[in-house]
Amino acid sequence: MARGPPAASALLLTVGLFVALLAAAMPVAAHADFLRSTPAPFDVWNIDPTYVSVTVSEAVQPGSPTITVTNSTDVRVDTGPTQLSSTDPTTFTVRLLSGIGPSVYTVTWTVVSADDGHFTAGTFYFMIAYRDGTLPGKFPQTGTITQSQPISPVDVALDAGNFVGFAIAFGSTLVAALLWTPVGSTLEGDERKASADGLRALLRFARIGALVFAAPAAGLWAENLIRSPPADLGAAFGSTFLLSTACQAVLGGLMAVLLAHLLARPSLADAFDERAWEFLPALFLGFLVILAEAAASHSASENAWWPLGPVADAIHLYGAALWAGGLLALLRTRRWLREPTPPAFSEGLLRAFSRLALLGVLLVVSAGAVLALILVGSVDGLLGSGYGWVVLAKTTLLVPMVSLGAWNRWRLGREPEEKPTHERVARLSRTVRTEALLGAAILVLAGLLVTMNPAAAPGPQNPTFTLDATAGGLYAIFQMNPWPEGPGDYIFQVVLYYENNGTAYYPGANATLSFLLEGGNGTAVTLPLEGPHGNHYYIDSPVLDAAGTWQLRAEVRGPQGTPVDFAFTVTLHG
Ligand code: HEM
Repeated sequence: MARGPPAASALLLTVGLFVALLAAAMPVAAHADFLRSTPAPFDVWNIDPTYVSVTVSEAVQPGSPTITVTNSTDVRVDTGPTQLSSTDPTTFTVRLLSGIGPSVYTVTWTVVSADDGHFTAGTFYFMIAYRDGTLPGKFPQTGTITQSQPISPVDVALDAGNFVGFAIAFGSTLVAALLWTPVGSTLEGDERKASADGLRALLRFARIGALVFAAPAAGLWAENLIRSPPADLGAAFGSTFLLSTACQAVLGGLMAVLLAHLLARPSLADAFDERAWEFLPALFLGFLVILAEAAASHSASENAWWPLGPVADAIHLYGAALWAGGLLALLRTRRWLREPTPPAFSEGLLRAFSRLALLGVLLVVSAGAVLALILVGSVDGLLGSGYGWVVLAKTTLLVPMVSLGAWNRWRLGREPEEKPTHERVARLSRTVRTEALLGAAILVLAGLLVTMNPAAAPGPQNPTFTLDATAGGLYAIFQMNPWPEGPGDYIFQVVLYYENNGTAYYPGANATLSFLLEGGNGTAVTLPLEGPHGNHYYIDSPVLDAAGTWQLRAEVRGPQGTPVDFAFTVTLHG
């Protein structure tokens, strides 16, 4: 029985993949999350802007961005189509009617990412004040910039189909090339014929897999073109995502053709053990698919981690296709592992697969950990986001899968001298079935994961963090700069208006800001604010020195010394 070659060949292929990846991976931008805008969210302007522009963290698919701007009576004030910047593919702009005047404006934007094809939509507000500084109203929502990346069940189904199909195509071809033909070459006569039938079934399964992954890739490509119709033919391949999905569709088709060509050979039973290299072109196409997938993955969007991100993604996908795909291939061919196939063949095959699967597990787990580090980033990200929970669910399913594999490996290793029997093979095959189904479930979860926004997605870059509160007939806007993320030095500002008419409140005397950490030592730190400067107070301080939820209280004294209190809450991550 061939002991070393399968694992050794797979290792060689793996090394080849790394080299190809390092040469081919291209850096791309980050996720299509809101970064900044003009006017910035919660800005109060004294002049009329002539345009609104939004910058996101990822290149935008041409033709996809939209911005609409409405005033407080819901009248649209934007004019003309939204334009993508010709110099910066992450910025898009819409012009405004001239002289739009004082109001609270709502900006709604939508965009499709050129890197991963995902749709993002968001809303924010800005205000134009009256010339005397009076506010025309209040912000409808404060503190956050709303942003959503809805999960489309169609996309989840297409991505899951793509991964399951690829695992079947690649895993079955690998099992055929590295296991079935070398182990089958030990057989003679009718037994060899039976194993050739199994090989045929394996190749047919691989061909179905190739078509199953090509069709969803074509579907994802078409879906994105329908969402944002291209201006010309070039634009249909004009983004990393469109190019990747189109390539996968074509490569899947080619793989199916190559496999059909192999199946058409009459000498499948006689010659393949000597000519296992004939599988190489189909495997090579599989490697190209892995490159195309990795180039348009979330991790490829992480510039800070490039090229580690796409390399880890490719290794993860390779390991997953090798392991889960190999298990699905064994599941499909289990009929040829039973009688009349000699148990020595079946057990030899399972033994060789066990070595290959060990390599797959090592690759999946190590690269999966790197991906989790890049895309989840923190324990908060893991436990505090839907994305983190899907990663946890995948890891949880992995435990029984690895345990079953280890159990099988242990049984195969413990009884090497025992004569293989059909009963022993049947026992091993039953475990393979459970493992394969778990693998398929993890692949479906991967389909869900890639449609979600990674937990480590960047926060807004420069907008001012704004909260507001009303008390004692006053309206206070509280701002922090930079955007509160972790402990550090911040500028805190409080601007006061009369609540009933929005005009600036000037009679305020001195003011203080106190800070109390929930679950801390229970002592609030109170700092005097600089001011008043008109209706404005501020302080620059490193007082927020720990992660957690901080209760802030601004106390402003009126002309008669009567205090008015405003409460705000700010959460800092570690
Ligand atoms: C230690 C356990 C695992 C962890 C922590 C993990 C984590 C991840 C992460 C973070 C991603 C990136 C998703 C994205 O692009 O947003 C991913 C992708 C993926 N995972 Fe896993 N995973 C694990 C196990 C598995 C297993 C066992 C399989 C298959 C049987 C699998 C199959 C996939 C596939 C097919 C992808 C998509 C790759 C691509 O888009 O190119 N994962 N995984």
